[in-house]
Amino acid sequence: MISIDDIAAFCRRRGFVYPNSEIYGGLAGIFDYGPVGVELKNNIKKEWWKFHVQSREDTVGIDGSIISHPKIWKASGHSDSFEDIMVEDSKTKELFRADLLVEEFLKESMDGKTREELWKLIQQHKIKSHKGNELSKPKGFNLMFSTDVGPKNPIKAYLRPETAQLIFTNFKLITENSRLKLPFGIAQIGKAFRNEIAARNFLFRCREFEQMEIEYFTKPKETKCKFINEVEDYKLKIYSAEMQEKGSPEIEMTIKQALSKKIFKNEWHAYWLATEHKWFISLGINKDNLRIRQHNRKELAHYSSDCWDLEYKFPFGFKEVEGIADRSDYDLKQHIEHSKKDLSLFDDELKQKIVPYVVAEPSLGVDRAFLIFLFEAYEYNKERENVVLKLHPKLSPIKVGIFPLVKNKPQIVKKAREVYDFLKNEFVCDYDDSGSIGRRYSRQDEIGTFLGCTIDFETLKDKSVTLRDRDTTKQIRVKIDELKEIIKKLINEEIKFEKAGKLIK
Ligand code: GAP
Repeated sequence: MISIDDIAAFCRRRGFVYPNSEIYGGLAGIFDYGPVGVELKNNIKKEWWKFHVQSREDTVGIDGSIISHPKIWKASGHSDSFEDIMVEDSKTKELFRADLLVEEFLKESMDGKTREELWKLIQQHKIKSHKGNELSKPKGFNLMFSTDVGPKNPIKAYLRPETAQLIFTNFKLITENSRLKLPFGIAQIGKAFRNEIAARNFLFRCREFEQMEIEYFTKPKETKCKFINEVEDYKLKIYSAEMQEKGSPEIEMTIKQALSKKIFKNEWHAYWLATEHKWFISLGINKDNLRIRQHNRKELAHYSSDCWDLEYKFPFGFKEVEGIADRSDYDLKQHIEHSKKDLSLFDDELKQKIVPYVVAEPSLGVDRAFLIFLFEAYEYNKERENVVLKLHPKLSPIKVGIFPLVKNKPQIVKKAREVYDFLKNEFVCDYDDSGSIGRRYSRQDEIGTFLGCTIDFETLKDKSVTLRDRDTTKQIRVKIDELKEIIKKLINEEIKFEKAGKLIK
């Protein structure tokens, strides 16, 4: 697998992601998406929204603001508890995240370790900074960015560290406007900000990033999930807190088997874990590279009573891509108490007001998803002597590269322009006429362009073009009239390239 530094260099070279403020020396942990990067990122968000919101009757979406009132963060607990533990190099004054430094040294997970426990390990193993100097005693550091709102007597407001809170604060209005009946989900995609102590590993840990989150609400303490039969036979690698404690490896089993062993506390949590896992598989992630891992008690965030991470096998080990927490009624209750507003719902069956539970909060970072789709797709092809980015066609930044075979024959150029104009409103296309046809193919392979469409001398006679498959380099002749339909079917995987000249279902 390519290293994280090499994938960062590749992203910069090919226009996926740039280091922010590079011409002024850079700003660590902040990135800009380039021309093909923004297409890939938008495709990931589009697929997520389609799957989680538009194709579900029980879920609606919102788009909350980034800057929000400080009282939100007092009520949510972030002002008091959203911190990481840091240590300082006694000579250089460089700061490190204590758990990551100890983890690096001891080669074992420090998830959930307290300040005192980390300090004990630092002393016991004589752990030093990267420069070999003594370390300070660990102390907490709140990760929220603040800003001043208004010119006179400004309010010290915060940039949201998670999108979730805007769902809770707007809860009453959303449920009334959308006539939602439990169980239901409220989803959101948007920016989040965390002043990470050690922003590193490229897009994995940034200071500005994006989240795709759902708060899924049920009646209090409801455990039975009405969709459980959709996932009961679904198999995935499970790594429970108990397995971790015993030092045993993760085990592949079905959701039904895990439920019967009481590995999941309730069916809803199991349903959402399987559903999220399925989404990644449907977009080309290899299931061997995914597992779900339960948090141990000490690791749990201040709002959470149970949490599982969907983890991906990065070059630096299995790490969280998505968190799926049980937040119970913690947040709504906190906002009821702090705002003195009624955020409860009337339950027709119980004939009383209830405060719904967030039985599962699937929370996925767009940037981490972007990274794992790239890792999965990246392949250096020795025969072709270039990188082939085998992205799922739905995610490919450019769906069709349009290539006039030569650029000095006006009829060919005219026809190629016609084909480009014919396709561009339906698919993202790139008109590419510079260099040899081989050079153009490899340039498009490297940015994951799904199909190549070449307009040649034959086109002028038979109104057909050559369509080339990025992954296999197989080619077929297609009538221009049928192009749109065939491209659509190929993207939706209804047909695929088989032998040269043939498409199969
Ligand atoms: N609302 C719950 C929540 O925010 P989280 O586990 O802290 O939970 C959810 O974050 C997801 O957001 C993570 O699984 C990860 O994909 C993404 N994420 C969190 N911090 C990040 C960071 N510093 N850089 C990039 N992505 C991050």
